[in-house]
Amino acid sequence: MRDVGTLLEALPYIREFHGKTVVIKIGGAAMTDAGLTDDFARDIVLLKYVGMNPIVVHGGGPEITSYMERLGMEVKFVNGLRVTDQAAIDVVKMVLVGKQNKDIVLSLKGHGQPAVGLCGDDGSLFQVRKRLAPDGEDIGFVGEIERVYVDVLNHIAEDYIPVIASVGSDENGQSYNVNADEAAGAVAAAMRAYKAVFLTDVEGWRADPDDPATKISQITALETSRRLATVSGGMRPKLEACVKAIQGGVHAAHIVDGRQQHSVLLELFTDEGIGTKITPSS
Ligand SMILES: Nc1ncnc2c1ncn2[C@@H]1O[C@H](COP(=O)(O)OP(=O)(O)OP(=O)(O)O)[C@@H](O)[C@H]1O
Ligand SMILES: [Mg+2]
Repeated sequence: MRDVGTLLEALPYIREFHGKTVVIKIGGAAMTDAGLTDDFARDIVLLKYVGMNPIVVHGGGPEITSYMERLGMEVKFVNGLRVTDQAAIDVVKMVLVGKQNKDIVLSLKGHGQPAVGLCGDDGSLFQVRKRLAPDGEDIGFVGEIERVYVDVLNHIAEDYIPVIASVGSDENGQSYNVNADEAAGAVAAAMRAYKAVFLTDVEGWRADPDDPATKISQITALETSRRLATVSGGMRPKLEACVKAIQGGVHAAHIVDGRQQHSVLLELFTDEGIGTKITPSS
């Protein structure tokens, strides 16, 4: 009976989400564990089969860091953004576009749903320009997304799950590393997605970064904007992306714990929800 109960609990959500686009960003811990990545892929395939239109955007910070360290390169962050010189952007492209993107595509394929991997250059998906750190510091080839051209996604999503690596280039052909949260937020806004879900390696946004008991379960985009200045590290670009997605018309942005198995399904299809939900208004 328990299994039937779970299905019945999911039914109103399945009905609500049918035909809707959901952007899911994966990064952090959920990508360093092969088992979790595979579980994630199965969850995404399930979303597709219940009639949703999932679009995956991925980062892969820990693995980029690990390859940079293996090559003896300096790893440095300013406000959660990776300082990226030309040698670093080469590693970013190799790891994100060459390896991780294809690993995710392969996992999705393994669960019965063909996927297409792309980065910001494919189908001219992203137009990127250089960005500076918030204090004006030059952090190298770190880009911000000026525009998303959704045409290629609309074509692919008809039949395949698009999997996007957060790399793009400017009009001169210079490549940039784009924060994957920012890319996911921009894609969600441009696609007028119904939901944006950010998987990470904490249980949600903590009011006190050091205290797991202070997880914020639900909050408005306005209140999130008000508190942004107090947030640091990788959570900062994630919250900015959530706010941007909501401002672009997304109904809700969720930050969930990618270390927990099936966190996407639990957040979307059960009454409790497990992470932090950011909504347009209370
Ligand atoms: N207030 C906060 N609440 C929760 N986590 C926070 C907070 N402030 C900073 N953090 C940090 O943000 C991290 C998550 O962002 P991070 O950029 O490291 O991972 P990610 O975005 O999931 O993955 P990737 O960057 O690889 O795409 C957490 O592990 C935590 O250390
Ligand atoms: Mg991050």
